[in-house]
Amino acid sequence: MPIITTIQDLKDLHRRRTPRMFYDYAESGSWTEQTFRENTTDFEKIRLRQRVAVDMTGRSTASQMIGQDVSMPVALAPVGSTGMQHADGEILAAKAAEKFGVPFTLSTMSICSIEDVAENTTKPFWFQLYAMRDKTFIKNIIQRAKDAKCSALVVTLDLQILGQRHKDIKNGLSIPIRPTLPNLIDLATKWRWIAGMAKTKRHAFGNIVGHIDGISDLSSLSVWAAESFDPQLNWEEVKEIKKMWGGPLILKGILDAEDAKMALQVGADAIIVSNHGGRQLDGALSSIRALPAIMDAVGDKIEVHLDSGIRSGQDVLKALAMGAKGTYIGRAFVHGLGAMGEAGVTKALEVIHKELDVTMALCGETQVRDLGRHDLLIPEDFEGRWQA
Ligand code: GLV
Repeated sequence: MPIITTIQDLKDLHRRRTPRMFYDYAESGSWTEQTFRENTTDFEKIRLRQRVAVDMTGRSTASQMIGQDVSMPVALAPVGSTGMQHADGEILAAKAAEKFGVPFTLSTMSICSIEDVAENTTKPFWFQLYAMRDKTFIKNIIQRAKDAKCSALVVTLDLQILGQRHKDIKNGLSIPIRPTLPNLIDLATKWRWIAGMAKTKRHAFGNIVGHIDGISDLSSLSVWAAESFDPQLNWEEVKEIKKMWGGPLILKGILDAEDAKMALQVGADAIIVSNHGGRQLDGALSSIRALPAIMDAVGDKIEVHLDSGIRSGQDVLKALAMGAKGTYIGRAFVHGLGAMGEAGVTKALEVIHKELDVTMALCGETQVRDLGRHDLLIPEDFEGRWQA
């Protein structure tokens, strides 16, 4: 068993053990990848305030997200095709999250279906919805999420059309993998992955196959997204989705204060400040930079969460100290999954938890709920002076 001390260790193993096209799918941003890069480099610009001689016993990272108890406010983000990073990936990640006491969010574009994950877990998970042109599909999948006792619906608003990630085109990303010469050469060193895939029957988009009509090529994410996702999605439709669902609703992909106010108006329970991990609008602000303006606009009226760029417990602490009530990790858990399956996801959560806990202590904090701006040193020009 390799010694893992950081998310980077898991990332290195993930790259070695998973077919290149799936590793690259996870580790890409759109176009120049500026937003993808700045999601992490902007976290580095924020420094921590060291405090001393504070009793640091009795520390706790326990908190709540949308009223649900969490052992730390770090949920697993919805990540498409997770079951291609490792056989049965969504089931394994959901199990690890359940044991750790953090929410798992299943993507519409998952390989394991809602029912697969429900059958293999014992606690409710969250379901992420993409609005599709096919309204019957939307109605049915919301009903399936209710039947599976999902305890929150996360509606993604920033992907009506898929951002271009160059590597996916160059790699010929497809599900399942086509037996081309470059793919066969790549697979020759990925024996663990092949062995896992040989043992599972889950090799396609489990929520979709048999549930949606009129798609010419389900193996291609870009064709599928172009043909199925609803380019007309608007706030009225969000209200209808809210009504159909009738439970806790989280709106994902908010990066602008005006949109945050709209989310408040439609009655969402929480928003996720997110640029989709830098995979959609390249050139948009990093999530952590966008957070302060959104906190100022709606922070006292709605629960604000953040994703995009979190690779450590220190990043989690910074987002919480800037006002977020919850955070999400995507790539950080996928690296764990690709590296070592369920044990790797658990490892990713342990690494982040330890970093969060020790950082809290060294900042002179004992309760995650008490974190605030007073724990941070934020450069004066951090938010930037932009003219709209
Ligand atoms: C889908 O959510 C993607 O970013 O590829």
